[in-house]
Amino acid sequence: MDYVFFFFLSIRKGFLGPPRKLMDLTSWVIIPFLFGSIGIYGLVRLLRRLRSSAYIQDAVVVITGATSGLGKECAKVFYKAGAQLVLCGRNEEGLKDLINELCRIRKGSVQGSYSLARDSDESHTAILGTAPGTEERSVRLHVFLCDRTLQSECRQQRRVLPCDTHPSLAQFHKPHIVIFDLSDVEAVANAAKEILQLVGKVDILINNAGISYRGTILNTKVSVDRMIMDTNYFGPVALTKALLPSMIKNKRGHIVAISSVQGKISIPFRSAYSASKHATQAFCDCLRAEMVPHDIAVTVVSPGYIQTNLSLNAVTDDGSRYGVMDKNTAEGRTPEEVARIVFRAVGERSKDVLVAGLVPTLAVYLRALAPKIFFSIMAARAKKERKFKDA
Ligand SMILES: NC(=O)c1ccc[n+]([C@@H]2O[C@H](COP(=O)([O-])OP(=O)(O)OC[C@H]3O[C@@H](n4cnc5c(N)ncnc54)[C@H](OP(=O)(O)O)[C@@H]3O)[C@@H](O)[C@H]2O)c1
Repeated sequence: MDYVFFFFLSIRKGFLGPPRKLMDLTSWVIIPFLFGSIGIYGLVRLLRRLRSSAYIQDAVVVITGATSGLGKECAKVFYKAGAQLVLCGRNEEGLKDLINELCRIRKGSVQGSYSLARDSDESHTAILGTAPGTEERSVRLHVFLCDRTLQSECRQQRRVLPCDTHPSLAQFHKPHIVIFDLSDVEAVANAAKEILQLVGKVDILINNAGISYRGTILNTKVSVDRMIMDTNYFGPVALTKALLPSMIKNKRGHIVAISSVQGKISIPFRSAYSASKHATQAFCDCLRAEMVPHDIAVTVVSPGYIQTNLSLNAVTDDGSRYGVMDKNTAEGRTPEEVARIVFRAVGERSKDVLVAGLVPTLAVYLRALAPKIFFSIMAARAKKERKFKDA
């Protein structure tokens, strides 16, 4: 510290370095401006984070496609933040496994035994815990920490409580499961009723479930195009429409769509998938504008490749399973990382978030600003991939 002080003093006195006027400008204007800006930026970020946590804590969050990949990771981050989850999918066993995982997160949040005590006027609560293999120490939870005198008073009156009553567990809500197939619009309407019966309201709907596709337009049956549109577009639209009236009535709601970079640009041999994601983007852009008077937020998150089973589960032109882990998918972002981005985007009520590297981002801008160049690049890509497939 002394060196830093001496350094700045030396500069101000003109002992070191460049001419005095420049140094005066540096020490009186630029440095305070720099530190001030960093401080304000830090404060704004902190306030934003606190606002996000408050927004998600205790919110009822419905997540479709929670059995695997991104949906599963979103379930974990929202659960840890204190949301009340409704997990949706077709695979009941998968969802039950996820609930067991969430229970392990819940139990893991308590270390060792603990005791709870109150001071005489009940104005403070102190929690003293013993982590396995350590000395008794005070454990800091979300609300407090009292001073040393109070701690020793608390120790004298302490009372050991069973683990399940630990105050830190109060932030975890019991998750619910709702099983339905998104490509069946009638089942979606029934699922929406079941969700509202179970939890009474929905604060945040995350339309995450989706299916991908690989094939040529010439060989793809229309039934396959329709199935992909039903799962990726009509199902989420039906669920959104079924839940919106209750959100409007409660004067609180947030619709989140997990789209894709392919919702902004189309790449060859993904026609049905790209079309469904473009439709999602267009629907959400209209929805956002129409929901302004009702104060319902709409967030579209468009990720690039994520390391999930999406390409394995993709369908081909005849509707059969593709079953290949694509190199791009295997090398994509982790679902944990993207789930954290989704969490932040929801907390900050962002409108449109592109989660992509430099090349896909440039491609999105190229499509908008220089479409001719974009089209020739895509034509070259299609030619190259066709050659590769024919070989
Ligand atoms: N992975 C990527 O590279 C990538 C990139 C951009 C965007 N995305 C988007 O991210 C979202 C999540 O995909 P993911 O990467 O996590 O893939 P994933 O691991 O294959 O997960 C897809 C989820 O959607 C569910 N689902 C599929 N068809 C359904 C249907 N008819 N009814 C109900 N649920 C259905 C699946 O449930 P089941 O277990 O029942 O099959 C699964 O839980 C998708 O919307 C996808 O388009 C992914």
